[in-house]
Amino acid sequence: MDRIRIVGGSKLNGTIPISGAKNAALPLMIAGLLTDETLILDNVPRLADVAQLQRILGNHGVDIMSAGKRPGDHEYQGQTLHISAANIIDTTAPYELVSKMRASFWVIAPLLARMHEAKVSLPGGCAIGTRPVDLLIMALEKLGAELTIDGGYVIAKAPGGLKGAEIDFAKVTVSGTHVALMAATLAKGTTVITNAACEPEIVDVADCLNKMGARITGAGTTTITVEGVAKLHGTRHTVLPDRIETGTYAMAVAMTGGDVQLSGARPELLQAALDVLVEAGATVTPNNDGIRVARNGAGIKPVNVSTAPFPGFPTDLQAQLMALMTTAKGSSNITETIFENRFMHVQELARFGARIHLDGETATIDGTAKLRGAPVMATDLRASVSLVIAGLVAEGETMVNRIYHLDRGFERLEEKLSACGATIERISG
Ligand code: UD1
Repeated sequence: MDRIRIVGGSKLNGTIPISGAKNAALPLMIAGLLTDETLILDNVPRLADVAQLQRILGNHGVDIMSAGKRPGDHEYQGQTLHISAANIIDTTAPYELVSKMRASFWVIAPLLARMHEAKVSLPGGCAIGTRPVDLLIMALEKLGAELTIDGGYVIAKAPGGLKGAEIDFAKVTVSGTHVALMAATLAKGTTVITNAACEPEIVDVADCLNKMGARITGAGTTTITVEGVAKLHGTRHTVLPDRIETGTYAMAVAMTGGDVQLSGARPELLQAALDVLVEAGATVTPNNDGIRVARNGAGIKPVNVSTAPFPGFPTDLQAQLMALMTTAKGSSNITETIFENRFMHVQELARFGARIHLDGETATIDGTAKLRGAPVMATDLRASVSLVIAGLVAEGETMVNRIYHLDRGFERLEEKLSACGATIERISG
């Protein structure tokens, strides 16, 4: 199994290109199931989760062509995928595939909408809490589907097709909103989704669906209205930049000091996180090419932060912020409100000498002047990268084990960081 070796102590200086957003690319690829025409997606990140979803869609009979690089293309531009679900040959998504990636459960929505049936294994994915699918099931039932659970599978049927409905989410849910949105596009009549998630990835998917002929208004607000249409067609869409990757590298720069241009980043996608970084002592300057982040001289100031649905501080940056706060001058509090049990990184950060006390959903971090390198274990996607951030300033050598989590969500992490002066390498085997 690959590992990452880091020798801490170097400042980051240079340019980091930001990839397409994993959390938009996955639902966009799944939306390809809604039409028998070709959906072309540009700027798709080269990640293990994307490759895994290609296998899952392939199992349903979807042809995916990945266009090669053309002369003049930047060596590391995101890939272009041509997704063609002309013939759906199988409406079952098996356990062996779905259990590896939670978001693949969402195929249930387009399959039901277009084929009026689906059999999808209950999901697996990151171990960051119980992560039920009750709200997704509620949304599909509201749209007229009959759902039963048998042998670990959700079996869904809508013999006459889905029908528009009012869907009110008791809790803000990204997965629930994606599923409701996709399913409603081909339902008969109007669907109104209230307490919808406002995440930029929802807006990106809604934009793409509208280009495919869907009639969606209100995406990005808490009320989304969908007028069902009989058929969707192909289109071409560019995946928006990854705000979590942007925030992660911004925190890495704040941690090590230095000056880095995050090329292609869009500040409005992560304003809450950028505000926290400024409070912590970083300089954040939006410009034409993205965002420049620097920290020169000044130490890291402690902050108090709670995670929240967009536009609040994202739970997917909670572990990275905690790594940053381990070397702050004083005591910080970080409260996790989205996922219970999303604190697996606390034990691992302690291996660097970090002082973190957990009390329910709140972690109190007492900043320490120095972290020391250690062997650590990646546990979930975002937790893994918090260990990399700690390793970048820790004295001596850090070895991050089990990095397949990192490969699920961060494209060429070690190359992007070493190009900015970090001593970081992948050790194969
Ligand atoms: C998505 C993101 C993930 C991010 C999360 C919150 C993708 C692929 N993943 O995950 O990176 O951390 O949003 O921003 O986009 N819940 C229920 N019942 C349900 C569904 C959700 O109780 O049926 C709960 C969850 O357990 C959690 C909360 O709702 O406590 C939010 O979950 P949700 O927004 O659905 O997260 P995901 O879509 O799984």
